[in-house]
Amino acid sequence: MTDLVTLAELGGPLAAIGGAAYARHAHPAAYWSTVGLPLSVARLVASYSSTMDACGLTVEPSRWRALAVRAATRREIRPVPPRRGVIRPNSTGLRVRLRLAPGQEPADVAASAERLRHAWGVHAVYVRDVKPGVVELRLVGYDVLRKVRMPRRVDGGLLRVPVALREDATAFVRDYRAVPHELVLGATLSGKSMYLRHLVAGLAAQPVALVGIDCKRGVELAPFAPRLSALATDPDEAAELLPVLVKEMEDRYDLIKARQGITPGTPDEEITSDVWGLPESERPVPIVLFVDEVAELFLVATRKDEERRDEMVTQLIRLAQLGRAAGIYLEVCGQRFGAELGKGATMLRAQLTGRVCHRVNDEASAKMALGDIAPEAVDAACSIAPELPGLAVVGDTSGGWSRIRTPYLSLADAAATCRESAHLAPDVPALTPFRPYVPPVPVKASGTATVPRPVTE
Ligand SMILES: Nc1ncnc2c1ncn2[C@@H]1O[C@H](COP(=O)(O)OP(=O)(O)OP(=O)(O)O)[C@@H](O)[C@H]1O
Ligand SMILES: [Mg+2]
Repeated sequence: MTDLVTLAELGGPLAAIGGAAYARHAHPAAYWSTVGLPLSVARLVASYSSTMDACGLTVEPSRWRALAVRAATRREIRPVPPRRGVIRPNSTGLRVRLRLAPGQEPADVAASAERLRHAWGVHAVYVRDVKPGVVELRLVGYDVLRKVRMPRRVDGGLLRVPVALREDATAFVRDYRAVPHELVLGATLSGKSMYLRHLVAGLAAQPVALVGIDCKRGVELAPFAPRLSALATDPDEAAELLPVLVKEMEDRYDLIKARQGITPGTPDEEITSDVWGLPESERPVPIVLFVDEVAELFLVATRKDEERRDEMVTQLIRLAQLGRAAGIYLEVCGQRFGAELGKGATMLRAQLTGRVCHRVNDEASAKMALGDIAPEAVDAACSIAPELPGLAVVGDTSGGWSRIRTPYLSLADAAATCRESAHLAPDVPALTPFRPYVPPVPVKASGTATVPRPVTE
């Protein structure tokens, strides 16, 4: 009997521990909200001063404070940690602001991020500079990139697409006006086309002309044909499309120039050097050019093709150099993008400010995307596991980088979004000859169709 009682007494807690361990692995978001969050808050509150002390983030108290403590309590005078703000929990972690003591800098706190994460039992700790003297600690409760769920509220807007989740649980927004051109690199099956799919689906609802060059005979971009203003599915078609885009760009510059006509009386707001300064009624629609498998444009089989290749590369470089002010943006995808592709490759790459590097097969490929950004970003890209397609390291030429992952979006769903927004495809007359053919959708027989009746009655 006593054995049974002991078993029952032990069984309950053991089942609870087992259940919690299972929930932590299988349903990390639910585990965080119910168990992880209260535990981490309790640890943070209880051990804040001692943890900060152990991390070397405390400072000697001011003379006035020391005098006050001595006069009031006669206690020994201890070093003080940075002043802590209110703890703000959310569904993926929690945030807390710290006021740095004089002599401290955000890098001091960032250097201790790994120690803080262990002390408070969370998946990761990130430090963000909020304003001089104040940093925000962003504690992430679990690996948010394993099963991506985008935050519900994200600042969208024209030419801004929330395309992936960062490892600190914030949305990574592809902002074409801030970073006009981008290079998306990765080995085969690493998730490049998924990234493009999100961009196309995100831009489909906006007044933006989408143009595709997909030298895999269109298998990646053709499903979005209803919403595309132009599509080239082999290098020959691309060779016809690119000069038209360059001409469109030049026409837009002429339009801006005609509008400028700066005379002494011209109001300041009418002086512009890009399409965004033009009045809305005259402003041409932005164009986003997607190039999937860019290497196909560079590879040539015969000497005759070489001339065509050089022309295409020059046109792409010109679009990358001058496109932004004319509202033309590039999104270039490839498996490798190095000097071995031939003349113009590195020059084009240098124009692509945004860098996204998915899983790669060798360090050299990661260096092509991130080498001129940060050596640590190259290491991070080389350690991406094949089991996590869509995981990438994103950097920009300012030296910052972070891990991101796209949520899963099926080709059928993305294609359906494009079909539904087909009527939003802007009219760009120059691109009309390149508009892809879209087969008409068969009309389903309706249930109320009249039943034929025999005429002899
Ligand atoms: N974020 C993601 N979550 C889940 N699965 C993904 C994700 N991204 C990609 N995948 C899956 O990984 C596979 C490869 O993705 P994708 O076609 O985008 O790769 P790719 O880099 O374009 O490959 P390729 O170079 O062969 O065209 C697809 O089956 C896709 O469904
Ligand atoms: Mg692909």
